[in-house]
Amino acid sequence: MDKFVIKGGNALHGKVRVSGSKNGSLPILFGSLLVPGPLLLKGVPTRLRDIKTTLNILRELGAQIEERDQQVAIEVPTEGPVTATHELVSKMRASISSFGPLLARRGEAVVSLPGGCNIGDRPIDLHIQGMEALGAEVRYENGYIHARGPLRGGRVYLAGPMGPTVLGTQNVMMAAAGAEGVSIIEGAACEPEVCGTAKFLRAIGVVVEGDGSPTIRIEGVGQDGFANLGGVSFEMPPDRIEAGSYMIAGAAAGGQVTVENCRPNENMALISILQKIGVPVEIGEDSVTVTGVDKVSPIDVATLAYPGFPTDLQGPLMALLCKTEGVSLITEKIFPDRFTHLSELRRFGAKVRKEGSTAIIEGGSKLQGAEVMASDLRASACLVIAGLMAEGETHVNRVYHLQRGYEDMDKKLRSLGGDVQCIDEAALEKQE
Ligand code: EPZ
Repeated sequence: MDKFVIKGGNALHGKVRVSGSKNGSLPILFGSLLVPGPLLLKGVPTRLRDIKTTLNILRELGAQIEERDQQVAIEVPTEGPVTATHELVSKMRASISSFGPLLARRGEAVVSLPGGCNIGDRPIDLHIQGMEALGAEVRYENGYIHARGPLRGGRVYLAGPMGPTVLGTQNVMMAAAGAEGVSIIEGAACEPEVCGTAKFLRAIGVVVEGDGSPTIRIEGVGQDGFANLGGVSFEMPPDRIEAGSYMIAGAAAGGQVTVENCRPNENMALISILQKIGVPVEIGEDSVTVTGVDKVSPIDVATLAYPGFPTDLQGPLMALLCKTEGVSLITEKIFPDRFTHLSELRRFGAKVRKEGSTAIIEGGSKLQGAEVMASDLRASACLVIAGLMAEGETHVNRVYHLQRGYEDMDKKLRSLGGDVQCIDEAALEKQE
């Protein structure tokens, strides 16, 4: 099992290029199930574990796939299996977004209920509610959801008690693309990844309007219309969470870091927070330059649906806020239990505690390198950033979590002057 060995204290300098978006690519890859013709998807972060898992699920569903570095050529026959197995779905919750396109294209979908998750409860009731609004008959059997079409246009309010659902919106949007007639999704998520999937659907020939707003209108092509959906070449968007993570790393451990190939407008909530706490930020056309600081001003932050501060950057920001002169607060309003990184941060000597879904971060203590355990993707990024800030050596174990969503993070940090090595522990034991 791999781990990162980090020697803290080096100031980061230089430019880092953001890879294709994990959360932008996953739904679009599953959306390829809708398309009869050959698809060429470019800018795909193919070295990410989650992308490899997704391609394996698509192969299980009969897709012909050819990977060429950051490009994926896909062709999906109309007939084929309709089951996404527990073995693969349990590895990655996002597999639930195979449900909508499968149901639309093949008239049936059998998808394993996603397993538990380190960031808290991950229900899919809104996904099901959306499919039923499109006429699907849904039943649960032995841990699997069984759904049958045909799908017809419908209207659904999709937001739940915790606000809109990002994957739920995209799942229902892709199902609606194959339904007979027009569908309206109210209470839709407005995240950039939703707009990316809508752009993909328009590229293959589906009329989608209103994406980026809470109301999305989709003109379904119906079972007979699939033949008109064209095989296209489509470029994935850059990863806004990876971009934000490197902006935070630059503030926490930087001399000066420029994050390239990003969309600054998609990270304005984070940029506004960085500026409020005293981090110098320069915004370019497709880059953001951040200057490192020793101390930050206190701040009270809450994670919210887009365009609010994203829950996926909550962990990375918590590492930076250990530099607060005084006390900062982060309230998690999307996943109230998403604090597994908090106890690991304390191993660095950070003064952090939690009351309900609010983390209280008291600055003033210089972090000391420690042996820590990664638990989920973004918690891992938090621990790596803390390791860069800390005095001495840090070992971040189980970095396979990190490799699910950050491409080549050790290489990218080394290119900025960070002392970060990725060690294969099994190989290490063999040497001893
Ligand atoms: C997406 O997950 C992202 N994953 C998550 O990123 C991200 O944290 C999340 O959106 C919120 O921004 C992908 O895009 C692959 P939600 P998703 O449905 O769509 C509740 C990462 O680290 N809810 O928007 O699954 C849910 O419990 C990952 O890259 C229901 O109640 O999240 C949560 O409280 C982690 N019922 C809130 O809605 C449902 O049917 C938002 O969840 C679905 C969700």
